[in-house]
Amino acid sequence: MNNVKKRIRHVPGARGMKYKRKIRILVTVCMFLITGLLSGCGAKEGAEEPKVLLGFSQLGSESAWRIGNTRDIEKKAGEYGVGLMLENANQKQENQIAAIRRFIAYKVDIIAFSPIVEEGWDNVLREAKEAGIPVILVDRDISTKESGLTTCLIGADFYKEGVMAAEYLIRKTDALGLDHVKIVEITGTEDSTPMRKRQAGFMDTIRSDSRMEVISSVNGDFLKSRGAECMRQLLETYGSDIDVVYSHNDEMTLGALSEIEAAGYQPGKDIMIISIDGGQDAINVLKEGKINCIVECTPMLGSTLMETALKLKNGEQVDPLIHPEEKYFSDEMDLSNLEPRGY
Ligand code: AHR
Repeated sequence: MNNVKKRIRHVPGARGMKYKRKIRILVTVCMFLITGLLSGCGAKEGAEEPKVLLGFSQLGSESAWRIGNTRDIEKKAGEYGVGLMLENANQKQENQIAAIRRFIAYKVDIIAFSPIVEEGWDNVLREAKEAGIPVILVDRDISTKESGLTTCLIGADFYKEGVMAAEYLIRKTDALGLDHVKIVEITGTEDSTPMRKRQAGFMDTIRSDSRMEVISSVNGDFLKSRGAECMRQLLETYGSDIDVVYSHNDEMTLGALSEIEAAGYQPGKDIMIISIDGGQDAINVLKEGKINCIVECTPMLGSTLMETALKLKNGEQVDPLIHPEEKYFSDEMDLSNLEPRGY
């Protein structure tokens, strides 16, 4: 971080840079105030210069989870006095790369981003490293052979989520005394961390159970419309053979449910439904008995992100991997007193 400052102060034409930095701070304060007003969190009167300028590239708005995550980050930036430059990539990796390059050009203090897929980040992250800007991964991971491109990852343990989903299925299979279970899987975005790990955790856990058979695995891209489309095709192909739907997020699950009902089956009874996320809409459907189990994946990563950004700005060490606590909700539990989910 100090290196960034030094570079700004000592490069030729540093006066111009100083002037640019003042403008940058002014623009940031304005953005900060506007963000605060819009989010209702209220920047304090006589707002001070933000303690840190954070550029965050969000991958899109594909789900209630993602929208909740964006809102939480905006809100927490206001509360922690962090100047936030937020860009939404609308599900395109090239937009995320372009946003990161803009953050570098703008000389933000810290860059954070939620990579839509794991591969393809080395070049742009090398540029951030050369500019001396620390990078925080939020929610999803990257795959790289190079070390030192990012400082840390703040996000869920997706592998454990897959394990929890499978453990529920095994418990339920025992309880119902089933001797053969045919499973269809609707996965999230191909080559994304949650897709890879939720699948791996689930498959590794059921592998040694001879009752389990995954008859199909299809890509629903974390979208409600794709979840519905996938389910329609699965029902056309396998019909009443399907015992279980394992869906990698609530959005796709909700899309799949309407197709199951339209085909004349009762979700939660004729077909066991296992989902991931735990947003309010899906929890309501779980309470109605149409979903059997939802593994929690919390989008509330804003506080940890702000704390980490402030630590990095102050030159402090941060944990390389920060997983939030997560649980699951199921038809085995009394959910009548569950707090509103907030996403
Ligand atoms: O990366 C987290 C996943 O992305 C969430 O489970 C899903 O809803 C979102 O789109």
